[in-house]
Amino acid sequence: MTTTPEQLPSHDPFGEPDPAGFLLRTGAQTRLAWLPPFQSCLVSKYEDVLPLLKDPRLINSTMIYLFEQLSPEDQHKVRHVRRSIDMWMGGSTFENHARFQKQLKSSFSVSAVNALRPRVRELTNELLDAVVDKGSMDVRADLALPLPANVIATMLGIPVADRELLRNWSHNVLQIFQQGTMERLLAGQDAIREMEDYLRPIVAQRRTDPRDDLVTMFTEDEREGRITEDEIVANCVMLLFAAHQTTAAVITHGLALLMQHPEQMTLLRAEPDRMPSAVEEIVRFDGPNKAIARHALEPIIIGGHHFPAGQGFLLSLQYANRDPDVYTDPDRFDITRESAHRHLGFGMGTYYCLGAALARAQVDECLRIVLDRLPNLRPAEDEAPEMAPGRQFGHIYDKLPVRF
Ligand code: HEM
Repeated sequence: MTTTPEQLPSHDPFGEPDPAGFLLRTGAQTRLAWLPPFQSCLVSKYEDVLPLLKDPRLINSTMIYLFEQLSPEDQHKVRHVRRSIDMWMGGSTFENHARFQKQLKSSFSVSAVNALRPRVRELTNELLDAVVDKGSMDVRADLALPLPANVIATMLGIPVADRELLRNWSHNVLQIFQQGTMERLLAGQDAIREMEDYLRPIVAQRRTDPRDDLVTMFTEDEREGRITEDEIVANCVMLLFAAHQTTAAVITHGLALLMQHPEQMTLLRAEPDRMPSAVEEIVRFDGPNKAIARHALEPIIIGGHHFPAGQGFLLSLQYANRDPDVYTDPDRFDITRESAHRHLGFGMGTYYCLGAALARAQVDECLRIVLDRLPNLRPAEDEAPEMAPGRQFGHIYDKLPVRF
């Protein structure tokens, strides 16, 4: 028998003072819940979320859930956001999506990323050189944001000198995914338009003057008729955004977690080879993507409940990564945790994060250098950190002042 929303416990996360904490509590209380603002069913348990991430009957529906909260007039006002995001990674057809993945895969493979490691080290050192004599910095503004912005700008072939522009734009694009108020959506839409206007001349230039970068790769595809100019600029916007805010959040939260757990920081300084598993634990414990949206293309059964085709789901990566059936003492931050790498913080299956290797390498190299060069790293005594809404339910550091 089909499960209807009335049969599930119903909650409004946005009515809660701490939506991320709410997600965790709901996951602990009930396997499935109904979230009226999303017209979606919240799925929390690791054993449910993992197979659903891999299930070809479910399609990524971030835009559907963002737009369903708006009136038809408001949807019309921000139609450019929808049009652009609908083109990200080939949009909603599996065929187009697979084509984009195939095309981009080699540029983001482990070996391609390893070749970038010296550049990541160089950039991290340059950013620290600029603050080291001051004895203080804001981790987010001085290190975590500029590092990934530089790296992805270099990969795309965009002048690194424009990184301040990129930073502001990607900050505004992030607003689209923050509890969708119209003001935020319109700011995000303006940023997308400005980024597209900025990118078009670069695309035009690469058509006649090819280089070893991703924009040139896209223009070669365009010549073969596999991609349009609109798709090129939409996907450059997507790459700049996807690579920037997520990685910055992991670097900032990672350093905050290490400062909150000084014994873990001491262990990591003494045994830097533990860094890869520390990075996994940071993403498990406090990854930036708290939940992801899917729609069922066919009827689907979860935990004995039958759902019809068209049903929306929100998969709670946050709860799955803290599921006590998978992780012992899940709310403890522990860089020696052997099971940390099983986390779902980069997704899994069809939409598995394209930039996972790049993100891991940047966080790894950056944190090694910070711990090595700043032996006295500590939170600023006289300046409090500031938090802002992150993607979906979470909060990210907007400012993390430190001394060293
Ligand atoms: C630590 C940092 C990062 C985290 C935690 C993260 C997380 C994620 C997650 C959870 C997904 C799956 C979304 C879904 O299933 O709907 C995803 C997808 C994606 N990520 Fe990341 N990401 C990070 C860094 C990056 C970087 C550096 C890039 C740069 C290329 C990137 C590009 C993408 C793309 C293109 C997708 C969509 C993949 C597809 O549809 O096939 N991400 N990411």
